[in-house]
Amino acid sequence: MERVKTGIPGLDEMLWGGFLPQTANLVEGAPGTGKTTLGMQFIYHGIAACGEPGLILTFEEFPEQYYRDAASFGWDFHQMEREGKLRVIMTSPEVSKVDLERVGGRIERLVQEMGARRILVDSLSHFERLSTDSVRLRGIIYGFVNALKREGLTAVLTRESVALLGEAEEPDSGLAFLVDSYILLRYVEIESAVRKALLVLKMRGSNHDKGIRQFEITSRGVEVRAPFEGREGIMSGSPRRMMDSFVQAFVRR
Ligand SMILES: Nc1ncnc2c1ncn2[C@@H]1O[C@H](COP(=O)(O)OP(=O)(O)OP(=O)(O)O)[C@@H](O)[C@H]1O
Ligand SMILES: [Mg+2]
Repeated sequence: MERVKTGIPGLDEMLWGGFLPQTANLVEGAPGTGKTTLGMQFIYHGIAACGEPGLILTFEEFPEQYYRDAASFGWDFHQMEREGKLRVIMTSPEVSKVDLERVGGRIERLVQEMGARRILVDSLSHFERLSTDSVRLRGIIYGFVNALKREGLTAVLTRESVALLGEAEEPDSGLAFLVDSYILLRYVEIESAVRKALLVLKMRGSNHDKGIRQFEITSRGVEVRAPFEGREGIMSGSPRRMMDSFVQAFVRR
């Protein structure tokens, strides 16, 4: 089956080759875990290695931040933008939602002009201010996510989680139902050092690696390493418990 490769060493193997085309893929994690880096790498790899132009939709940082961060990994986003293969768009959830709802909106035009195939939305957390009603909010995000898919895009959506170390909060099961895959980034404490862990919680329509893997951010971006084997007891936020609560969140509905 055709796969949309992230180009992230180790992650594509966990995803059995990559994301499925035209899917929405949620990357959730605490501040600084590497959500934006993972998303930028997905966009960079699409342009540099797969001939797939990309969009970055951001609600938080000034676009310059992305160019600087990307440059620190050796990814020349300015050059890609000059070549018409990348656009970094600073917008608001309100504007992008309305834009995608109408035919011939800015995003739709860009997708057609550039032949964009990938999009990074950084971050979905900003949608939370659109409604305090969780059912309504889910409807809004559902509409947004489907509009991206309708444009033929494969999307990486980031979402902040507040839990740092320790007791893992329950993943947002509402959002988990809307997306095709769900990747969790966590800080874990092992032998007095803080490391990072990556877990693919779900992947619709495909098998995937169920293990909890270590990952690092290096000068080349995200690199996924070996699993945390036999480490459950050491982690303060037990990954086994985290898995259990996630499964429960599904079963309860
Ligand atoms: N060139 C680099 N080499 C190694 N590590 C880097 C480099 N650039 C950034 N980092 C690390 O990447 C991490 C930040 O990653 P990123 O911005 O992707 O996180 P994030 O999850 O998006 O955070 P936030 O929730 O604040 O948006 C930092 O911990 C930083 O130390
Ligand atoms: Mg970020």
